[in-house]
Amino acid sequence: MNMPTNKRLLSGITPSGDGSLHIGNYLGAVRQFIELAKSNETYLMVADLHGLTTIQDKSQLQHNIETLVLNELALLKGFMTVEQFDRIIFFRQSDVLMHTECQSIINNVTPLGLLKRAHAYKDKLQKEVEEDDINVGLFSYPMLMAADILLYQADLVPVGKDQKQHIEITRDIAGHFNKIYKKNVFKLPEAFIPEEVAVVLGTDGQRKMSKSLGNVISMFESEDVIRKQVMGTFTDPTRKHATDPGHIEGNMVFTYLDFFGDPVKVAALKGQYKEGKVSDVEVKEYLFDSLMAYFGAARKAYDELKSNPQLVRDILARGQERALSIAIQTMTQVRNAIGVTTQYSFFDYPKPASGKTISIDEFARVELRVGKVLEATNKEGSEKLIRLVVDVGEEKPRTIFTGVRGFGYTSEDFSGKQFFFITNLAPRKMMNEESQGMILAVDGADTKPQFVSAEGMPVGAKIR
Ligand code: ADP
Ligand code: TRP
Repeated sequence: MNMPTNKRLLSGITPSGDGSLHIGNYLGAVRQFIELAKSNETYLMVADLHGLTTIQDKSQLQHNIETLVLNELALLKGFMTVEQFDRIIFFRQSDVLMHTECQSIINNVTPLGLLKRAHAYKDKLQKEVEEDDINVGLFSYPMLMAADILLYQADLVPVGKDQKQHIEITRDIAGHFNKIYKKNVFKLPEAFIPEEVAVVLGTDGQRKMSKSLGNVISMFESEDVIRKQVMGTFTDPTRKHATDPGHIEGNMVFTYLDFFGDPVKVAALKGQYKEGKVSDVEVKEYLFDSLMAYFGAARKAYDELKSNPQLVRDILARGQERALSIAIQTMTQVRNAIGVTTQYSFFDYPKPASGKTISIDEFARVELRVGKVLEATNKEGSEKLIRLVVDVGEEKPRTIFTGVRGFGYTSEDFSGKQFFFITNLAPRKMMNEESQGMILAVDGADTKPQFVSAEGMPVGAKIR
């Protein structure tokens, strides 16, 4: 299959189950996504609002969202270079309000029958019979998903086969909208379904690997848990002793080793296994070691992320900003197209600042200290500058200039008083003298600077 390049991709994962991913999710979904992200503009979203159709327990949802965020980020970080990772736009659906706004608008161009024919709803209807047991959120699940995709004008949506119909519904809705409003507001997306990706069977060797069936191999559990999962994996039921000749076909340990083991070593082990020269336990030990090596970088990233919530918040904040900037462009067009924008409109979407945020740790590099002004005098030959001699708790007082005489401040406003000073700046020449720091000011009325008083605080104290 041809790998697309230079397209805009969007995909999402719902925080269902317990929010964690297993090697089936990795091989069947995340791995392809990581490959695609290397040569395409990619948006990856934690579809937390979609989780609400089934999870209505607050702490369960919180747990699942946090777990999924950590699992996905750890895989991305573990299998991508820093530059590749920085290019991905990873965000939470609920962090971008326009998803629900868009959904509620496109509801109006969607024929009821289109949703009634959706598999997810039809399957549910067959199982639970009663229509009253199904919430409207599940029924309109494809609408929220369509909004997710259309908001970002995605070219391609990498998903599993089961999601194909949702992308078709999305195309239909986009087409209806564009036709009704006679404007190509939405791009019609295409599904990208890597054909060669087979469903990964579970450790029972019978059914699709799935959390709900308890037949998974985890990636981020403790070594003990993963070892147990590996040791419990289905091999060859006809083989009673290590010396019996064994079968490779349908033997899940070898199936997994084909993905995660060293091909030369795996080929040798297969030969030995068929001849009854290696035990199940030895092969399983090798699978365990291979998994630990394969996911080593990702497991390390997981631990780092888990112990540093600020790092995760920073990644999500940056993702939110970048997602917002596209979502706002689309929704501005949508609002203009449908006619809610009139001469009386005053609504404006929040403007993302810069696409970047800094952490409080980074901000903490600014050293702020309480300083007492020992002496304040006008700088000779200047109309603006006041020279402050400030005790900031060091051996010698510092000379710090402030250029505020133009705002009506005089030296008496400072003399003998305490303020906050930034004390880790490089000295800066003010006319012919050095300023060894800055006084902290905030905007007051008419942007006249106001000085933040530190009266009564210990001189030299730093802000922690
Ligand atoms: P499920 O399909 O079991 O409900 P999810 O919806 O959480 O699991 O799966 C997220 C992604 O992982 C989907 O794209 C899905 O196709 C893929 N996936 C899940 N289980 C497997 C598996 N056993 N083999 C291959 N891919 C899988
Ligand atoms: N419905 C998708 C699933 O169950 C998850 C999802 C939500 C999604 N929004 C999306 C996938 C947008 C692709 C694009 O797997």
